[in-house]
Amino acid sequence: MSFWARHQVFEKNSIILIAGILAVIAIGGLVEITPLFYLKSTIEVVDGIRPYTPLELAGRNIYVREGCYLCHSQMIRPLRDEVERYGHFSLAAESMYDHPFQWGSKRTGPDLARVGAKYSDDWHVTHLTNPRAIVPQSVMPGYPFLAETEVDASIMAAHLGTSRSVGVPYTDDQIANAVADLKAQADPDNAGVDAFTKRYPKAVARNFDGRPGAPTEMDALIAYLQMLGTLVDFKLYNEKANLR
Ligand code: HEC
Repeated sequence: MSFWARHQVFEKNSIILIAGILAVIAIGGLVEITPLFYLKSTIEVVDGIRPYTPLELAGRNIYVREGCYLCHSQMIRPLRDEVERYGHFSLAAESMYDHPFQWGSKRTGPDLARVGAKYSDDWHVTHLTNPRAIVPQSVMPGYPFLAETEVDASIMAAHLGTSRSVGVPYTDDQIANAVADLKAQADPDNAGVDAFTKRYPKAVARNFDGRPGAPTEMDALIAYLQMLGTLVDFKLYNEKANLR
């Protein structure tokens, strides 16, 4: 039987053809994708990247729960207009501890990858409570209930543990102190602040929502927003990567 005669088997039977296509694509896919799981250079190591603190992680969960990603991306593309508007393009390392990542595919509002430290905590409280108090024509919904809802600290140890099982390097110490660290970060007068900043170097403890009492979901969400894009010192990064 000639090659063409044998090939007719595929051409005349669509199920065999589909199986053949899948087999060929699978080989190509494996060859391209498998090495990415083993190569060390897939995600370049960047100084300053650390796992989220329990309060930030709680805030991130609220971000996902409320669907903020439906209107906001967290990925600055390496294009001139993006870089001029939002800052240095996003690095893979900046979302290496995100499960799932929040790159997003739609921008009704601006990209948030570097929104940290752009505004005051007060600004965020006012804006999240009622965006139209700041931008009259804003279509962003208000989230006033976040300030009234205490953040659920009890699940954070389990959440850190789960993150560790997918590769986030939380230590036993960080997991055991998840609840204490969450409370300490939202209250600068808390006795546990020193221990907290030892466990999470350069993390800031503040009363993010500006109210006394137990940490609220507003505290958590603002703690998360205020650290976005602040971990990498791009002056050092560019020198090291020879980008300037
Ligand atoms: C319906 C779409 C929509 C949703 C959902 C949404 N936003 Fe927005 N957001 C916008 C728009 C539009 C703007 C620009 C106008 C403004 O500042 O209100 C904005 C602005 C912002 C800004 C200011 C960004 C900057 O650089 O000025 C922040 C921070 C923000 N949103 C956070 C959030 C968070 C957190 C959530 C989820 C709790 C959220 N947004 C949900 C549409 C949305």
